[in-house]
Order: sequence, then C-alpha cells, then structure tokens
Amino acid sequence: MRKIYTIGLLISISVIILSVFESCRKTDANAPKGPTPLVLTIPSGFPPPSDLFRNNPPTKEGFELGRRLFYDGRLSADGNFPCASCHQQFAGFATLDHDFSHGVADQFTTRNAQPLFNLAWHKEFHWDGGINHLEVQPLAPITAPNEMAETVENIIRKLNADTSYKRMFREAFQTDVIDSRNMLRALSQFMGMIVSANSKYDQVKRGERTFTSAEQRGYALFQQRCGACHTEPLFTDLSYRNTGLPVRPSLNDVGRMQITGKSADSLKFKVPSLRNIFQTGPYGHDGRFWSVSAVIDHYRFGVVNGPTTDPLVKNRIQLSDFDRNDLIIFLRTLTDSTMLNDKRFGPY
Ligand code: HEC
Ligand code: HEC
Repeated sequence: MRKIYTIGLLISISVIILSVFESCRKTDANAPKGPTPLVLTIPSGFPPPSDLFRNNPPTKEGFELGRRLFYDGRLSADGNFPCASCHQQFAGFATLDHDFSHGVADQFTTRNAQPLFNLAWHKEFHWDGGINHLEVQPLAPITAPNEMAETVENIIRKLNADTSYKRMFREAFQTDVIDSRNMLRALSQFMGMIVSANSKYDQVKRGERTFTSAEQRGYALFQQRCGACHTEPLFTDLSYRNTGLPVRPSLNDVGRMQITGKSADSLKFKVPSLRNIFQTGPYGHDGRFWSVSAVIDHYRFGVVNGPTTDPLVKNRIQLSDFDRNDLIIFLRTLTDSTMLNDKRFGPY
C-alpha cells in the first residue's frame, strides 16, 4: 500500500515537473526575442578600439533607434536641427561647404563641424577634447543655444508621446521607460558603429589594388612629412597640436587650453583624421581653409611661430608644387565611398 502510494507520488511529481518544463519551453518560444547583438568588426591593421561599448554593447535594435534619433528634428527646440543637419553622411558626417554650421534661431557654431567615423577609436571628443565619452557628447549640441537649444526633459516628453519610439526603446533596452540614459546609449551605438575602412588606400593595404606612381610618391611624402600627426590607419594620432595657425581675434579660440587651463596647451587642437578629406571641407577648427591645397600651403608658407607651435611644423614643411600635387593625389585615395553611401547610416 505504502509502496503504491510512493510510486503514485513519484509519478505525479514527475508529471508536474514535466509540465513545468513544457510550459517553460512554450513561454520561451512565445517570449519576445532579446535584441540582436551587433559586432564592431575591427578592420585589418586597425588598433584595438576604445572601451566605448564595454557597458553598452551594440545591438541591431539599439543602433536603429540611435539612427532614428540622429535624424530626428525633435531633438532640437524648433524641430529643424537634427544631428544630421550638421553631420551629413555625404560630407563624411561633417557639414558640407560651411565653415560654421547653422543652428536654431539663425545662430552659428563657432567651430567647424567635425566628421563622424571611426569614433570607436577616439577617447576624447571635440576640437579641444573637452568631452571624454561619446555617450555624453550629444548633451553638448542638444543644450547649446546656437545648436539645438533644447532640454533633455523636453525631448523625453516628445519621444514619450510617440508610440513607435516606445516600441523601439522596449525592443532595444527591454524597458517601457524612455529616459535620457538609453537615448544617449542608442546614439552612441549608432555613431560608434560608423566605420570608414574601405577607401582605395585600404584596398591597397589589403593587397586588392595598387597605387599609381603619383599616388605612391604622394604616399611616401605623406609618411615623411605628415604621418607623425595624421598617423595611419586612422590618419590621426588623436593628440592635440598647434600647427601655427594665426589666431582669429574675433573668435580668440585657445583650443585645448580652454579645457586643461594650462598655457602649454594654448592653441592646440585635436588632430583631425584625413580620411574622406575631400568630402569634409572646409578645413581647420574654424573652417578657414576652403581647399586641401590651401591647408598644405599653410604648412609650406603660413606657419606662425609661438611658444606652443609644434616642432614638426615650426620650420614649415618644405614641399615643391609638384610634391603638393602628389600629396593631393594620394589624399584622394582616402575617400571611402562605401561608408559615404552606406544605407545603414542613412536617413531613418
Ligand atoms: C548646429 C550644428 C550641429 C549640430 C545640430 C550637432 N553638431 Fe555635432 N558638432 C558640431 C560642431 C561645430 C562640432 C565641433 C565642436 C567643438 O569642437 O567644440 C561637433 C562635434 C561633434 C562630435 C565630436 C567628434 C570628434 O571627432 O571629436 C560628435 C561625436 C558630434 N558632434 C555628434 C553630434 C550629435 C550626436 C548630435 C545630435 C545630438 C550633434 N552632433 C549635433 C556641430 C553640430
Ligand atoms: C604637428 C602635427 C601635424 C603635422 C606634421 C601635419 N598636420 Fe595636418 N593637422 C594637424 C592639426 C592639429 C590640424 C588641425 C589644425 C587646426 O584647425 O587648428 C591639422 C589639419 C589638417 C587638415 C585639415 C583637416 C580638417 O578636417 O580640417 C589637412 C587637410 C591636413 N592637416 C593635412 C596635412 C598634411 C597633408 C600634412 C603634411 C604635409 C600635415 N597635415 C601635417 C596636425 C598636423
């Protein structure tokens, strides 16, 4: 009797366990899938990226949300100035043909908009490196009165009123709450995933194509005269340097010193990447040069020496007109039409 009872109990326990398993299996199959991971592929020859994504691993859903936010005018006070109004894909995500970019209420920025690509390799942002994480960077343009002139609270209110955003935040971050933290994480995923590594230069490096003899001559000159600051493969060593540009009194921009307060950093600016350089003009932190050849002529003839002028340009850079042309021919191989036309980075 007791034995039968025990067996009966065992059977009913097993049935309960089995049905629990079964129901688990069922709910798993019906549960909403988590976001799909996206991998930042490190192009051959690139150094390891920063720890940008350590606490914010990119996903397809997070990236898509970031892309939508990047192109959404609602992030600005009057609805007309999304990030993409100043960071245009066809211009390497800089502003085409503008020294300063146009913001809310007919105001202008006081620096040239920087291109946005390979940012997962940068540790500091803006011309003076005043921002030390990509995830907080958007707060600067959002709140700047001459850029987007908006508050985070207002943006969150606008996004909350849109049910499609509610769905996208849920899919990306598994939460029904739309908050600034996840908004910033999504923007960071989008920007951090923009990689430029398929120019002719990259293809030559991968052994898929070869340089013409003029490109090869330009490349050799580039390595000798420019590569110490515009270091391959990012074409920037991410340092701050004074290249002897005469100060514009109307702006009186002291660059890096504004952040560190050290006179040794006076007039130093973040070395810009030269990838996609023919798309990102005008040039320099204040957009004062309207052509690449004008920038090269600055190194040849225009350097003004002061206490912080970089030793590499102090005596100017000796280049013939012929050398300048070869350099320009080489720099043209840095145009990456794959990135410039990649639909994944285009308007939402
Ligand atoms: C009105 C034009 C304008 C708008 C709108 C704008 N930016 Fe910018 N962006 C700039 C300018 C100008 C700089 C250079 C700022 C500086 O050095 O002080 C810059 C710099 C940056 C940088 C630094 C890149 C680097 O290499 O250091 C990032 C990242 C960036 N912007 C992202 C954004 C995002 C995200 C948005 C939208 C939330 C946005 N920007 C909106 C003009 C704009
Ligand atoms: C001492 C380091 C250094 C050297 C050497 C150097 N550059 Fe630069 N380059 C910079 C810095 C820093 C800037 C930004 C200057 C600014 O706006 O204040 C810059 C800006 C530029 C720009 C404008 C890019 C933009 O997006 O605005 C071009 C083009 C350029 N350099 C090309 C060259 C070439 C070609 C050479 C070699 C002939 C060269 N550079 C040598 C540091 C250097």
